[in-house]
Amino acid sequence: MNYRHAFHAGNFADLVKHAALLNLLARMPRPLSVIDTHAGRGLYDLSGEEAQRSGEAQAGIGQLMQAGDLPAELLALRAAVTRLNGGGPARLYPGSPLLIAGALGKGDSYVACELRPEEHSALTQALTPWRNAQAICADGYAEAASRLDREGEALVLIDPPFEKSDDYRRCVEALKAITRRSPRAVVMIWLPLKDLETFDSFVRDAEDAGVGPLLIAEARMRPLRDPMKMNGCALVLARAPDGMAQTLQSICDWTVGALGQGGAARIWTAA
Ligand SMILES: C[S@@+](CC[C@H](N)C(=O)[O-])C[C@H]1O[C@@H](n2cnc3c(N)ncnc32)[C@H](O)[C@@H]1O
Repeated sequence: MNYRHAFHAGNFADLVKHAALLNLLARMPRPLSVIDTHAGRGLYDLSGEEAQRSGEAQAGIGQLMQAGDLPAELLALRAAVTRLNGGGPARLYPGSPLLIAGALGKGDSYVACELRPEEHSALTQALTPWRNAQAICADGYAEAASRLDREGEALVLIDPPFEKSDDYRRCVEALKAITRRSPRAVVMIWLPLKDLETFDSFVRDAEDAGVGPLLIAEARMRPLRDPMKMNGCALVLARAPDGMAQTLQSICDWTVGALGQGGAARIWTAA
């Protein structure tokens, strides 16, 4: 496992995922159980070596913080980053754990899974202020379904590094297990867009899982000509709440238009 999210925190793909996540959290009925299968360290220092070396945060959250034309669907993310930095410049960026923990109500709960011990230890520290949030050092694919109640409202974020070839297969298996276990669980999976073949084959497998209609958001930042590059990202949602398609359209339109190079945003449903 070589993946380190510190190189990518606050990039365009984080903006799409995190803006969608905050909008989803605001729409979900309560009390709510949230599971984050691949949580990361929770908090990222954008002045650190990794972020400075990649430049991805500057091209992502750096631009979003200064945008004059930000649609309503991205304002909650900007507000969260502003709060985290005490109103000053965006030196710190919240990962999904801090965004989720910050949106928890009194009766809600949150389990964040992280497999890498050093990331897990940073995550535990980042979540200390929230008593209803728990960081576990474990395989999120294996944990997700078994940690859900059969009753009640639930939201599961699946956000793997996709550095292993079986990540696509394991996402589909987890999607199946989660939706079977919890009839009301909403699931959001993040995926990279490199070439369309890999993505289309994932969507076909997810459709075959028989979990009902899937809402799909694609933010293609540039034409998908070079499969070695991350040319964009996608979100695949099962049991998406009403109104999410419009929200995702707005998030992806802004991201592609403001930060992309000749790409396109596309929101569609797979049965
Ligand atoms: C893309 S990052 C997560 C970013 C985070 N969800 C966010 O939005 O801030 C993926 C993380 O998953 C961790 N990881 C890899 N395989 C895992 C597994 N099977 N279970 C749990 N965590 C895993 C990696 O160490 C990495 O920190």
